[in-house]
Amino acid sequence: MQLNPSTQPLIEMRNVVKIYATAAGEFHALKGINMQVTRREFVGIVGKSGAGKSTLMNMITGVDHLTSGEVLVNTNSSPVSIHKMKEDEMAYWRGRTLGVVYQSFQLLPMLTLVENIMLPMDLSGRFNSKRSRARALELLRLVEIEGHADKYPSQISGGQQQRVAIARALANDPPILVADEPTGSLDSVTAEHIFEVFEHLVSEQGKTIIMVTHDKSLASRFTRTFEIVDGELHFLSGEDIASGKEEVNESFAS
Ligand SMILES: Nc1ncnc2c1ncn2[C@@H]1O[C@H](COP(=O)(O)OP(=O)(O)OP(=O)(O)O)[C@@H](O)[C@H]1O
Ligand SMILES: [Mg+2]
Repeated sequence: MQLNPSTQPLIEMRNVVKIYATAAGEFHALKGINMQVTRREFVGIVGKSGAGKSTLMNMITGVDHLTSGEVLVNTNSSPVSIHKMKEDEMAYWRGRTLGVVYQSFQLLPMLTLVENIMLPMDLSGRFNSKRSRARALELLRLVEIEGHADKYPSQISGGQQQRVAIARALANDPPILVADEPTGSLDSVTAEHIFEVFEHLVSEQGKTIIMVTHDKSLASRFTRTFEIVDGELHFLSGEDIASGKEEVNESFAS
């Protein structure tokens, strides 16, 4: 019997373990993560600096290898086990499926801002080059930075680079957005604007978002919020969030 894809989790992490080999020995960064995300969820991930948030994001996007476990993503008729894909297959799949906002932005320094956003569109072949430029400018407008379109990343501020990174993540109109501290370098007004853009993407366009943040005031606005503590994932209930549990609040500080 064929399972109805809409009732299956969109993203499923099964006992994901990540061990880094360091000069000091093995470091267990993720200690068996199990998580299911359904379509149209806006999931928040919080936790102290070094808890494993970016490592978790890298497992979901497949930009880094896992040590054991599995990550399944089910955007089509059957789930894809992303770490089993070949490198080129993975790149193509990621380009069409995932928008990724990296904590360190990862803009290409030799391309202008508008070109940085056009690149994923041109690689995926989803938009012709005329359309990709127009769309890139639209996305720069969405993050309120269109006036800088022809500058290079080194010529704009960190917060402006972060907004370009967000625009680039949306370039191919992906069903899933994975964003690592996407508002971390923004002032509170700009951060709120970006967060509202994300909320709109979920409510009006049916996107699914997983977002890492240090901003505890956002916790009640996610569909679900998880905290990572030393490589382990804990669900935070509405009560935990509303009561501002001491350990929860402390854990948000970086
Ligand atoms: N390539 C690596 N090699 C060895 N250890 C690493 C590597 N990357 C991360 N770690 C370690 O794994 C742990 C989790 O790191 P991670 O970057 O996921 O933390 P984080 O929660 O994203 O922190 P932050 O809030 O500062 O961004 C940290 O102790 C870090 O030092
Ligand atoms: Mg991080």
